[in-house]
Amino acid sequence: MLDAMKTTATPAAVLREAYREPDWLVPEIALEFALGPDRTVVRATLRVERNGGHREPLRLDGEDLALVGVRVDGRPAEHRYADGVLSIPLGGDTAEVETVVEISPNSNSQLMGLYESGGILCTQCEAEGFRRITFFPDRPDVLSSYKVRMTADKARYPVLLANGDPVAAGDAGEGRHWAEWHDPFPKPCYLFALVAGDLVANRDQFVTAGGKTVELGIWVREGDLAKTEHAMASLKAAMAWDERVYGREYDLGVFNIVAVSDFNFGAMENKGLNIFNSRYILADPDTATDADYDAIAGVVAHEYFHNWSGNRVTCRDWFQLSLKEGFTVFRDQQFSADQGSPAVKRIEDVRVLRAAQFPEDAGPLAHPVRPESYIEISNFYTATVYNKGAELIRMIHTILGPDKFRAGSDLYFERHDGEAATCEDFVAAMEDASGCDLSQFRLWYSQAGTPRVRADLTHHAGDGRAHLELAQELPSTPGQDQKKPMPIPLKVALFGELTGEKYADRLVVLEETAQEIVFEGIGERPILSINRDFSAPVVIESGRSADDLAFLSAQDDNPFARYEAMQQLMLDTLVAAVAGGKADHAAVIEAVRRTLEDERLDAAFVAEAVLLPTEAFIGDQMLVVDPEAIHAAREALRTDLGQELEPLWRSAYASTAANRFETSPSAKGARRLRTVALGYLMAAGAEDAAALALAQFEGADNMTDRQGALGMLSNSDAAERDRALDAFYARYRSNALVLDKWFSVQALSTRDDTAEAVERLAKHPDFTLANPNRMRALVGAFAANQRAFHQTDGRGYRFLAEMILAVDKLNPQTAARLVPPLGRWRRFDEARAALMQAELRRVVETKGLSKDVFEQASKSLG
Ligand code: PHE
Ligand code: ZN
Repeated sequence: MLDAMKTTATPAAVLREAYREPDWLVPEIALEFALGPDRTVVRATLRVERNGGHREPLRLDGEDLALVGVRVDGRPAEHRYADGVLSIPLGGDTAEVETVVEISPNSNSQLMGLYESGGILCTQCEAEGFRRITFFPDRPDVLSSYKVRMTADKARYPVLLANGDPVAAGDAGEGRHWAEWHDPFPKPCYLFALVAGDLVANRDQFVTAGGKTVELGIWVREGDLAKTEHAMASLKAAMAWDERVYGREYDLGVFNIVAVSDFNFGAMENKGLNIFNSRYILADPDTATDADYDAIAGVVAHEYFHNWSGNRVTCRDWFQLSLKEGFTVFRDQQFSADQGSPAVKRIEDVRVLRAAQFPEDAGPLAHPVRPESYIEISNFYTATVYNKGAELIRMIHTILGPDKFRAGSDLYFERHDGEAATCEDFVAAMEDASGCDLSQFRLWYSQAGTPRVRADLTHHAGDGRAHLELAQELPSTPGQDQKKPMPIPLKVALFGELTGEKYADRLVVLEETAQEIVFEGIGERPILSINRDFSAPVVIESGRSADDLAFLSAQDDNPFARYEAMQQLMLDTLVAAVAGGKADHAAVIEAVRRTLEDERLDAAFVAEAVLLPTEAFIGDQMLVVDPEAIHAAREALRTDLGQELEPLWRSAYASTAANRFETSPSAKGARRLRTVALGYLMAAGAEDAAALALAQFEGADNMTDRQGALGMLSNSDAAERDRALDAFYARYRSNALVLDKWFSVQALSTRDDTAEAVERLAKHPDFTLANPNRMRALVGAFAANQRAFHQTDGRGYRFLAEMILAVDKLNPQTAARLVPPLGRWRRFDEARAALMQAELRRVVETKGLSKDVFEQASKSLG
């Protein structure tokens, strides 16, 4: 009865406007855990203080908690526990409130709260997981200092970790032991963490600029210790970088990281005790690709940077999530750019933005960087909040310049240290420190959608003037029909068509709906280079000719703009081919030839520049996506490029061969280009291509080359394919992270039988719904394979819906993240759209659905 009621009622939305200060504050909390895998007893002692002159009872959030007892100031107390809230009437303005609850870590499949992963007990509290551990005001504006005492079986859980500094430990008798940790920095409960397990540490030290020695530990299972070196080096680099670039030092004596294999997201910035998805910690050349190494450095840095942007200054409410996430993503992007090639890093970041955020902003789940409402906050850990949020910070950085930006961030940290702040507070600090007016800029936080900027350049030879006409348009998004123009910072340069001379190079901020900029002293026809470095997260419509794009792809002195011109040229060619069925490939082939022949370019850049846009991105340019036509057009161009430039691909392939694995940037770039060249040789249909791929696969001394070759083979029908897949499986079947790659390469295959193969793989003994990494490796990758997922019979949609419903019973967050691909139905032909909607309807109508999936699926139906 109760269950049926829960599922038929539409879950309520939380509104940003409804924010109110907390009725009660909790300056201190002491937690005692009697840890066990089936049963853990949690005793929490809260010192509470009335906040303001109200008469409201103390209200504490709780979920899946078995309540054992409540005491107020040492005596059993009146209380009511209903609908996830424990209400306790309190007479005075302060009290000591003690609750005792029981929880069961090993039956927690949601991976929120206290759960078990590979025999380790660990926690995940962001956003609202702390209420699954104990009764508490589970909101980020209640900050407390924490004392944590844990007791546990000594043999099973020899290591006991929590936030802050260790203060004492000892034997508890009967094979049990205890440890106590104190965190002096007041924090919201979403930053609470504990870990108990049989772990070993890679230990190191970092001496801060202020001369304090910090004990560092990266904790893993014994066999994984040798795979923690890169994470440790990245951590130390990040600590030094944050001191140098932002003046931010670490503030505790201890910084620990724990790697676990079951984790909903990438990693979590718990104060002094980061908990990581093991895929962002563990690496050695045999099991991790260069991309994995880069991701590890980026995520380790990201979580470390949160110590200031997130922990010391936290969020007032979850609508402000981008305050910490957008800023921290920007910081980790800056860090990674400084560690390697800024141009290649920018290309990668823009690729992610276009692949994940642009479609989100153009679909039924579009929301502002600072959302106005949510049903389930877990659904708002999105590319918009993270990646577009980072672009907003980057635009402020571009508009202010690095020095004023730094003054702004200093002021922000100084003003709000120890507080729960808002996006508005961040912008205000930037404004106050720089003297720049950012009032119109605030629209970027409240308006959803990707702006389209029309850019037309005309030139009058007579007066030597060039006129750049700019116009912006922001498409309407769910709940937002009327939009205002936003300030759009565009880095612009003009190049002379004949001389190649650069006539102008400046930052133009488009503030109006339409605006004209005049450039003087230009004696020849200029070619427009615009949105250099991707200075604004917008779509540019410039109508530049193939010749102009080819010019820029060969001559622009901004590497990103050069890459971008090539992409635009490829995109124009492919879109024309899809529309007209046939296309002229000559301009693209010529531009790629020039890029391959340009000896001044490094291999990593060349590898990026010669890659065709993905099928999904080509689809994003079209009103109605035709997956088959897109695939055919793209493959035709690939084949042509492969055949026409075969000698160049062969020499690129030969020149990037290495005898021995090296981690240097040039060796990395060579590996990247090598597999790209191999792909073109396979596309060309070269007779020896499959053999080359198999040789690369078998001879590789590193995972980058091995996985690169396997990915190419997985697209082919050659006999070498199964041989490589079987060998890969046999070699790595006991390594979960590598086995994820085996599932992914097959799900991403361009073969006709991929949907079928994926259904079969979902029945493979190594497939499991319980592990989010494995789910994403197979089901997430498949849904990103445009042609296979959109197979006309709808079996891809049916498969995805079945997976969503099956996973939802275990882990609603992971299930909800699989919904968006079905929500793209408006962009497909009627037949496909109907099939997609039918699956969404089937999902929404399912009894007992989580509110996570309900929100995503119902919004997707629109
Ligand atoms: N706050 C984490 C990060 O971005 C992400 C996260 C959110 C992890 C929710 C777990 C759960 O660094
Ligand atoms: Zn983050």
